[in-house]
Amino acid sequence: MCGCLHREAFTGATLSPAEGKKKVPASEEAGYSTARCVAFAVARVFRPGDFTAMQSRGDRLMKSIVVVGAQWGDEGKGKVVDYLAGSFDYIARCAGGHNAGHTVIYDGNRFVLQLIPCGILRPGKHAVIGSGVVVDPVALAAELDTLAKSGIDVTGRLHLSNRAHLIFPYHRQMEKAAEAARGAWKIGTTSRGIGPAYEDKMARHGIRVGDLLNPARFREKLERVIAEKDAVCRATYGVPLDTAGMAEQYLELGERLRPLISDVSVLINHALDAGRSVLFEGAQGTMLDIDFGTYPYVTSSNAISGGVCTGLGVGPTRIDAVAGVTKAYTTRVGSGPFPTEMPDLEATEVRDRGKEYGAVTGRPRRCGWLDLVVLQYAIRINGISSLVVTKLDVFDTQKEIQVCIGYHYKGTPLREMPAAAEDLAEVTPEYATLPGWQSVTYGVQDAAKLPRLAVAYLKFISDFLGVEVGMISTGPDRDATIVCAATQLATWI
Ligand code: GDP
Ligand code: IMO
Ligand code: MG
Repeated sequence: MCGCLHREAFTGATLSPAEGKKKVPASEEAGYSTARCVAFAVARVFRPGDFTAMQSRGDRLMKSIVVVGAQWGDEGKGKVVDYLAGSFDYIARCAGGHNAGHTVIYDGNRFVLQLIPCGILRPGKHAVIGSGVVVDPVALAAELDTLAKSGIDVTGRLHLSNRAHLIFPYHRQMEKAAEAARGAWKIGTTSRGIGPAYEDKMARHGIRVGDLLNPARFREKLERVIAEKDAVCRATYGVPLDTAGMAEQYLELGERLRPLISDVSVLINHALDAGRSVLFEGAQGTMLDIDFGTYPYVTSSNAISGGVCTGLGVGPTRIDAVAGVTKAYTTRVGSGPFPTEMPDLEATEVRDRGKEYGAVTGRPRRCGWLDLVVLQYAIRINGISSLVVTKLDVFDTQKEIQVCIGYHYKGTPLREMPAAAEDLAEVTPEYATLPGWQSVTYGVQDAAKLPRLAVAYLKFISDFLGVEVGMISTGPDRDATIVCAATQLATWI
């Protein structure tokens, strides 16, 4: 039993005495003048067990929830998915590739999963890699080896879509050449060949996981593609493609992966028909989405919740709800506009406290204040009904916290997120300044133990956005988590 934040609290609704609430004036809590009335709820926290809770919905029993990054990636999706996974049967990835790095820490173990959904770490759970994911079989095999070394048996629990597209070494080679050619305009990609693999998919000369299972067909397709790529590479970048031994290596890996490969759309839909629960693990984040992100400084897939439908073959009517994950501040890796980016000194402090270095590339992450314009946008684009706020503890020593509550462009307030990266690069953020709590939230598992001003910060966010804060993360460890009582999110576990 412990306390937690309550959705109604943010609209000033009265809570029952049984829930042990107390009401605090907003101005006193938040330290800013325009706050609406807020209340403080102390109620039960639900902890995920290994049971499968099913939610009744009309004439069927099911539970299918999307977890999506609400910012520029690295929001802590891995930690959140791992926590929630205890209450779901299937955990499925729908987009991206091994550009993702999802960190999970529990019982002294630390895993960074790139392609395999985090649910694999939970005994008995099924992990699914969808058709929207681009798969480098070498990277997948390496990840399987790492799991095996840690004693995690994936037999019968890991499923790989036969429709997922393959990443080849030439994708990486071409990406490196393209990034170098862009010079100052480079995107700052993860150099994993992700973009070129999706380019081939869209250009309709990609090669898919299912092709690995038919060596003759695979060789024939690969030969055709290599001839074309080699010509392009020589003409554009003046270098030949290095393809020696590639076909054999991929076919060997195909044999290793054969037991995992299937039509995962059938698998997931049958699972839902049978009343099983599914958690969809987003990769990257809304602002990196190919359509709705800060184009062209984005990744090459649909990182938003809609990617679940196209990347797993699951209809929108089968999805119950969407949780958006946000840090208590903002980070971004790679190039592109970042309106709330902190000046060097402040960014360095937050980077050090938050250990903000890429889980995949080790690159230092750019750090900035929380941007509520971005979150408002993410809520709309993804249909987010519950927010998860991670890394609250990183602000434990912060004296004052800035939160972006609007943009001005050429002196005029902007009503919506600009479509052009060039325009976003020119906005001036409007900030609200909130007092820091300057005490420890690190590792707190009980909302009642959160400092008053930390609660005020969360209430400010929820109040501004009109969406519940359903979960709070106070440290990288699985246990450093608060599920907020009487929220929508609490009913999922
Ligand atoms: P993802 O890509 O969204 O899964 O996020 P990453 O794993 O790339 O980056 C998040 C980083 O923050 C990882 O190092 C996590 O271990 C860490 N992390 C997650 N939640 C918290 C938290 O609440 N507090 C702190 N201090 N670290 C956290
Ligand atoms: P997770 O799932 C943060 C960024 C790269 C680069 C841009 C394009 O861990 O949140 P790409 O290699 O995808 O073509 O690079 O997207 N990027 C991420 N940033 N987290 C990620 O994944 C990312 N995946 C890609 O840094 O700016
Ligand atoms: Mg990451």
